[in-house]
Amino acid sequence: MSRILITSALPYINGIKHLGNLAGSMLPADVYARFKRAQGHDVLYICATDEHGTPAELAAAAAGQDVRTYCDEQHEIQKAAGQAFGLSYDWFGRSSNAPNQRLTQHFAKVLEERGLIEERVDRMIYSVDDARFLPDRYVEGTCPHCGHVGARGDQCDNCGRLLDPTDLIDPYSAVSGSRNLEVRDTRHLYLLQTKLADDIRAWIDSKSDWQPLAKSIAYKHLDEGLIDRGITRDLKWGVPVVGPDGGPRAGMEGKVFYVWFDAPIEYIGATEEWADATGRTWRDWWRTDEGADDVRYVQFMGKDNVAFHTVSFPATILGSGEPWKTVDTLKAFNWLNWYGGKFSTSQKRGVFMDQALELLPADIWRWHLTAYGPEHSDAAFTWEQFQSTTNKDLADVLGNFVNRIVKFAESKFGGVVPDGGEPGPLEIKLEADMRAGIAEATAQFEAMEFRKAAAALRAVWVLGNEYLQEAAPWTAFKTDVERSGVAVRTGLNLVALFARLAAPIMPDTAARIAATVGATDLSWPDADASLLNQLPRGQTVAAAAVLFTKIEDSQVAEWSERFGGADA
Ligand code: MF3
Ligand code: ZN
Repeated sequence: MSRILITSALPYINGIKHLGNLAGSMLPADVYARFKRAQGHDVLYICATDEHGTPAELAAAAAGQDVRTYCDEQHEIQKAAGQAFGLSYDWFGRSSNAPNQRLTQHFAKVLEERGLIEERVDRMIYSVDDARFLPDRYVEGTCPHCGHVGARGDQCDNCGRLLDPTDLIDPYSAVSGSRNLEVRDTRHLYLLQTKLADDIRAWIDSKSDWQPLAKSIAYKHLDEGLIDRGITRDLKWGVPVVGPDGGPRAGMEGKVFYVWFDAPIEYIGATEEWADATGRTWRDWWRTDEGADDVRYVQFMGKDNVAFHTVSFPATILGSGEPWKTVDTLKAFNWLNWYGGKFSTSQKRGVFMDQALELLPADIWRWHLTAYGPEHSDAAFTWEQFQSTTNKDLADVLGNFVNRIVKFAESKFGGVVPDGGEPGPLEIKLEADMRAGIAEATAQFEAMEFRKAAAALRAVWVLGNEYLQEAAPWTAFKTDVERSGVAVRTGLNLVALFARLAAPIMPDTAARIAATVGATDLSWPDADASLLNQLPRGQTVAAAAVLFTKIEDSQVAEWSERFGGADA
């Protein structure tokens, strides 16, 4: 048994997330957490809302709420949406909670003691009409790298480059739209990343286990050259910048840390929240001098987050010189697009987590977003593909298999697992095929190749259908009841096995499938164990009310109309 720490990028507090966010971080992290738990490992899956900075302030202002009330409400909404989607966080924390504040101030203090933080007087954009400085997303304008209009002051959504608000061409205030902007002096803390570049590169070199996408993004940023980074902002909402005595810092009163400085620290902070709430300990997950050296730490995120996790956050952690656990495996995802374009709240294109569950149960989405997700390249969501793969994979292949064999057992074998008879050549071959299929699925889950893992499961379900086709218990029943019974027993054991295999991706459905044959074991199967003779003979079986309903053309038409589709 090993200890595995899993985090998925912390969703911004500013509103419920769309399916692209889910598919690129929380869902795969959850699937992996469930897979590892099902193998019997000690898993700690941590997530939280990322509550500080301009995204929170701007969204609260748009909602007409004060930022704390807004965050309180939105945190509960996101937590509930995660639960409804079956995201099995061990803890879903808040970056505005006390542990993160303490840790963030701690890191800043240690970094400063080590000569890695420096106060600088900065020339920042000040909006005369708004009577305030405009950090990050408070400024928008044209990207100096790609010419994208409407680029945010912190990052260009089009080319992905990290930006400084003063880089923008033709800048305007995101608060008021005003172009009446000046550049004024203001005092800020800088993290001297230039001094850390060699350490960070050596650290990345030592990571043999990162996905190629993550490594290439990390090196690209290093090769472009690290710059010293401002880690404080002229904002009200955030972790306060303090002086050496913990009180307000002279000359920097009222300033807070930059959201990207405190947010990743919340991975640790949320673990402390979890420990406080459950009476467990958090340091043995995070401090290599206190037991965390045997922890394997896996991070999940979208590709736009990789630079922050491979360069900026490591600068904080490595720069502290303290024995913190760092990421062992980093799994990055591409974009899920909506037809050709992007998800867009304002244009009503795309589906958000709460809306998705009004249409269909979570497991249907979980399957689709895992099996056809944006794993090695961007993936396009279309209602048409969603309909066709869901109907095929789930209704025709898996659902049909389960219903057919369980119903037959009910009608011809008194609704129990038949006794008697011996496995024949078909069953022996099936067992070997299952072993190979399980070994393949296991290897793909281990490698965090989720699309391939899902394809391996589908292949195993197909084999089950082919077996039933060949063994044809319904035909055998007319001439050889015992032979028919062997096939039914084998089929029912396959049902129990398929439930175990489906559990990481479709936890609710897996439990319902298992229940049809009276099974409750949803642990991950070992390819070497005897697989097809697990159910007690004579045990009652009963078909489920519909496992999967097919998605109708009329639904596709209705949903395209409501959420945007090909011609929206
Ligand atoms: N909120 C960020 C985003 O959605 C991700 C933050 S991840 C963390 O892009 F590491 F900073 F917490
Ligand atoms: Zn750009």
